[in-house]
Amino acid sequence: MAKKISDKITWVGKTDWELKMFHGNELSTRRGSSYNSYLLSGESKTVLLDTVWGPYDKEFVSRLKEEIPLNEIDAIVMQHNESDHSGALRELLREIPGTPVYCTAKGEAILRGHYHQDWNYVKVKTGDTLDLGGGESLTFIEAPMLHWPDTMFSYYNGCGGVLFSNDGFGQHYASESLFNDEVPEGEMMREAEKYFANILAPFCPMVTRKVKEILAMNLPLAMICPSHGVIWRKNPEKIVEQYLTWADAYAENQITIVYDTMWNSTRLMAEAIARGIRQADPSVTVKLFNAAKFDKNNILTEVFHSKALLLGSPTINNGYSYAVAGLLEMLKGMKLKKKRAAAFGSYGWSGEAVKLLGEHLAGAGFALVDDGLRLPWVPDETALAACEQYGRDFVAKLA
Ligand code: FEO
Repeated sequence: MAKKISDKITWVGKTDWELKMFHGNELSTRRGSSYNSYLLSGESKTVLLDTVWGPYDKEFVSRLKEEIPLNEIDAIVMQHNESDHSGALRELLREIPGTPVYCTAKGEAILRGHYHQDWNYVKVKTGDTLDLGGGESLTFIEAPMLHWPDTMFSYYNGCGGVLFSNDGFGQHYASESLFNDEVPEGEMMREAEKYFANILAPFCPMVTRKVKEILAMNLPLAMICPSHGVIWRKNPEKIVEQYLTWADAYAENQITIVYDTMWNSTRLMAEAIARGIRQADPSVTVKLFNAAKFDKNNILTEVFHSKALLLGSPTINNGYSYAVAGLLEMLKGMKLKKKRAAAFGSYGWSGEAVKLLGEHLAGAGFALVDDGLRLPWVPDETALAACEQYGRDFVAKLA
């Protein structure tokens, strides 16, 4: 169902209430998502910005036809060509072949690589404009690696200034409401943070550069329209500032303890370390997660939110646990900055896990606080007291 955003802009996307996993199995979504596509009706040109994910292509085209005769679409702007935005393009262009497809040079390469079609590509660069008539236009702003090389934003100078930002400023958040002022703010911001942590964190320097570049343009900004989740209508500058904060080695006063355990020894260590941390600093938030039982992307978001990570695993076959290994691989990709860390774990005989975890944490960019804590077999009262002391010492070393 199309929804009016203003007299010139209509949302023609798809709200996906069922989505649980995104990017294959790489990214969980707690509250579905939406694939936002926008129809922009200028005085002399009508433009469609982005489409939706492939499974909804026929539904998308069929609903679009209810909104506008397709041959009245003068141009399609593809701001980023990952399948969740370009998935309905083939179906749409079957109906209106020859319609110009505006995209970056990388965008054309990606569209050709995905769909193998010789469409009517119009390559654009930063500063290029698409005249909509009546003094209004879309200005393109390349935004490479936010989060793909082809990404661009589009700025519309009508309606008080609207930035179409594709994945930037998005949230995987399904809602019948279109606007940020119509949904519970805390709930939606948690999804915006999870989205940033899991999708944009590796590209923080580019985020900072691009946001500052756009701010320096001093453009009027009434709305930011991302391609996932709600539109930033109320205080759109707030999410812009939040992006600058998140992109700048973000950390709250939180320590996250992530562990896996076979027979509870490493869990007992984790809980005792947490007690020690709180004894030393009652103001710090301490959160514990069993890596094998909790959602990996929610855990990664908590690490993103934290100033330090304690990562624990028992030694298994001279290594460490499968769940912890997966998280470490993802942490490496996130390229987090200025976070402290240490490893811990129980062992029976060989006991390599703590040393290996430390090495891999360092390789993932964490600053190791110490050599970690390794204890044999099941911790007794003395060992648990040592864990509490380790927690207290850990806090002191962070100071
Ligand atoms: Fe929402 Fe990078 O696609």
